[in-house]
Amino acid sequence: MASRRTITIGLDGGTQKVEIQVPDGEPPIWDAETRLNVVGQSVRRLDGADKVTGRARYTSDIHLPGMLYGKILRSPHPHALIQSIDAKKAANLPGVKAVLTFEAADSFARLDQSEDSGHPSPTPSSPSGTQARAGRRILFAGEEVAAVAATTPEIAEDALDLIEVRYDILPHVVDLEEARKPEAPKVYAKGNLPSPSVGGHGDVEAGFKAADAVVEGTYTTPVALHNALETHGAVARWEAGRLDVWASTQGVFGFRDDLVKFFKIPAASVRVQSEYLGGGFGAKFGAGVTGVIVALLAKKALAPVKLMLDRHEENLATGNRPSSVQWIKVGAKRDGTLTAIHLRSHGTAGIAEGAGVSGPVRMFYSCPNIKTEEQDVFTNAGFAMPFRAPGFPQGSFALESALDELADRLGLDPLELRKKNYLETKAKVLMQQYDLAARAIGWSRRRPPAAVPKNGEIRRGLGMGTAAWGMYGEPPADATVRIGSDGRVECVCGTQDIGTGTRTAMAIVTAEVLGLGPDQVQVILGDTGTGMYSPASGGSVTLTSILPAVRSAAEGARSKLLEAAAPGLGAPPDRLDLKAGRVATKDGARSMTFAQAAGRLKSSVISAQASRSKNYEGMGDSSWGAQFAEVEVDTSTGQVRVLKISAAHDAGRTINRLASESQINGGVIMALSYALLEQRVMDAPTGIVMNANLEDYKIAGPMEMPEIVPIMIDAYDVANNIGVKGLGEPPVVPTAAAIANAVSNAIGVRVRDLPITPDRILALLGKVKEA
Ligand code: MOS
Repeated sequence: MASRRTITIGLDGGTQKVEIQVPDGEPPIWDAETRLNVVGQSVRRLDGADKVTGRARYTSDIHLPGMLYGKILRSPHPHALIQSIDAKKAANLPGVKAVLTFEAADSFARLDQSEDSGHPSPTPSSPSGTQARAGRRILFAGEEVAAVAATTPEIAEDALDLIEVRYDILPHVVDLEEARKPEAPKVYAKGNLPSPSVGGHGDVEAGFKAADAVVEGTYTTPVALHNALETHGAVARWEAGRLDVWASTQGVFGFRDDLVKFFKIPAASVRVQSEYLGGGFGAKFGAGVTGVIVALLAKKALAPVKLMLDRHEENLATGNRPSSVQWIKVGAKRDGTLTAIHLRSHGTAGIAEGAGVSGPVRMFYSCPNIKTEEQDVFTNAGFAMPFRAPGFPQGSFALESALDELADRLGLDPLELRKKNYLETKAKVLMQQYDLAARAIGWSRRRPPAAVPKNGEIRRGLGMGTAAWGMYGEPPADATVRIGSDGRVECVCGTQDIGTGTRTAMAIVTAEVLGLGPDQVQVILGDTGTGMYSPASGGSVTLTSILPAVRSAAEGARSKLLEAAAPGLGAPPDRLDLKAGRVATKDGARSMTFAQAAGRLKSSVISAQASRSKNYEGMGDSSWGAQFAEVEVDTSTGQVRVLKISAAHDAGRTINRLASESQINGGVIMALSYALLEQRVMDAPTGIVMNANLEDYKIAGPMEMPEIVPIMIDAYDVANNIGVKGLGEPPVVPTAAAIANAVSNAIGVRVRDLPITPDRILALLGKVKEA
């Protein structure tokens, strides 16, 4: 059932009324005209103090009586057949309580490497499929071979050394280009090249014929590693057929469901909790191999087991952002109007798929003729997992670089060229973001190539990039808000706070509805035991999924409270308001405190549960963003220093301004690191990762930090009762492109490879041979 409502959408200063279909039961919609008290303010994280004082309990802080420590034995070889495993010595080591190997009757977790599917996914396969595994094939160095649980981590480590594995070593391939050759060792029986993905519209050849200028180039990006501060891991305990798990995961429900599937037990028998999380960035969906191994060890040892990966393991076998080689060709009319974009790419996601990069080409600009051809290439390397805006940082680097080159060729301002090809949207928010971020960086100072000095040791340049991200969240998502007769307020949703401030956002929305401050709301989350379903925190859909449910639940609780307060105030509930911690008659004549009203409840607690409705039809636009960078290049050393980045973004209606700005800052930092420093290095002859640590795999630190100017814009396109959209991923999308364009602008030579290391700069300047 649905009803029609008129709402106001757009931007402050540019709104319009539209009529939309809204599912029955929706509260009054927070649209462009709604003025709110708590929502949109800068609210400090409710758990900030707990985090900085160490009170916050992460997975590695969980200690259970009699708990054992798990460790995993990993293959040193990139491609091998396991002939035998002798784990007797390990099992006999005093202190060892459980040993798992693929040869034992234990159902060992592993990737689904079904030879036929060619679609391996990093989820555990069912036990039945992994029983007869004589000659199990290892596909990358670091893949799990065996595991132990012991009374101390040291004994567990020693036990691993006692496990004797006989491998038949097979030929491997880890190099992207080698893997494409017909004679290359095959990662899967069907070869290394799954079906390519082809898309687009129009006729690119006709588009290029109609163009006044055409540029083309090949851009490369490296494999990058997630490196969430907290590694993967979990604690598992079996008791009376019930499985309790504390896990570092982006999705407690997905984690639970993987275990339910693997162990073939009812969902009601498994509880997964994640009270605090040190980041995930896409690599922590589901139980994965690690989660299943912990639970298996605990089951076999008849004792709780904790297993947290170390950084080395984390960087071998938990996911990565695939590499890319992108040939892109772009054509435009003299005035900058795009006529055609053709993208042909390949890249490796290791033993998995997921190296596509065409999102930006398909989403960012209006162009009549687009063709995308993407090819995954299997290599004997760790599988990719989604990594903050999968495919977009890579794709935007190539596309936005090509557009800058095109603008230079046409003698146009790169910003004007983007505006010329602006994709018409409801909120028109991107135009505003372009202008605000351009002003913040001082874009008018940008010099066209001809005006950039070719001498001088230190050279500066300006560059820009665009972001779009198109996820709005959807049902199911459930929430409960409770008010106790003692005045306490609880907001409950199973969702996890992966470090983004979900907890605080839930409190903000509840507080808004109940006329309280956010710190007056207790948030309960990170627990499948709440029974309040939430999707995984990924795809930038956490708040967009759960907050509409939280809002509806809070509205339900509000109604019940007003009913209880009404008699005492001598007015019907619809003549009452909840504001500034008081329940008052709308004329303000009579009032009581929130606690007094709660004291009038006829039970010790009232609660209202609500579920998220479908997105309003025809509503829901992308989240947009624009980033501008100013860099300084030392042409004698090749060192690039990013001086400043301005970053304008939106998330529909901003819920917490401070957290949103933090989200932008974090995205910029992560993507700057990707642009300048990060790359996984494989040794082709041995097939191993050379830098699976944080010493040789460099990530940006304080020394690399520029001034960052985060700019949050409210865009009201209102696809849900709050009008919130996603912000987790967009800020990481345009940064590398903006930096690369700024460096190209500074040195007068096009940067075509990430990361932008000093040796590459010196090569571009002709000071050393090709890096
Ligand atoms: Mo993200 S890659 O959706 O955690």
